[in-house]
Amino acid sequence: MIAHIMYYFSDQNDLVFDPMAGGGVVADTCLAFNRKCWSFDMDDRPDTRPEIEPYFWDITNLKWPIKGKTKPDLIIFDPPTSPEGEADGGQVRLILNELPRRKRRGIKMSVLSFLSQQAAGN
Ligand SMILES: C[S@@+](CC[C@H](N)C(=O)[O-])C[C@H]1O[C@@H](n2cnc3c(N)ncnc32)[C@H](O)[C@@H]1O
Repeated sequence: MIAHIMYYFSDQNDLVFDPMAGGGVVADTCLAFNRKCWSFDMDDRPDTRPEIEPYFWDITNLKWPIKGKTKPDLIIFDPPTSPEGEADGGQVRLILNELPRRKRRGIKMSVLSFLSQQAAGN
């Protein structure tokens, strides 16, 4: 699915932004499809995934971790899908855990909206 999205919604040498990179499928696909990649995740794995930068998205105080004027061409945002399905915790998960399903979706949409606005330079 990631390959499909990347193939149809970006071009060679485009910059793809993956704010919650997990196992790094997006970074791997970027390599295969000749895209540049920014990957972040709260899990720091310098030995196995050094290209994924450690960063914690504090959803009560969202900040853009990237300095400079470069903007991504495509964002692939894959937050924890359900509180039960995510083994590793994190603030998104902890807060989502407490909320009814509709509100969880609202939080994910506001994080995505923040990312999109920052990426567009607003
Ligand atoms: C569904 S997984 C991403 C899977 C990924 N697309 C892959 O290819 O493996 C969600 C990821 O979000 C990360 N995450 C959850 N809350 C976060 C937060 N507040 N800040 C940064 N990363 C977070 C988790 O560590 C987890 O790796």
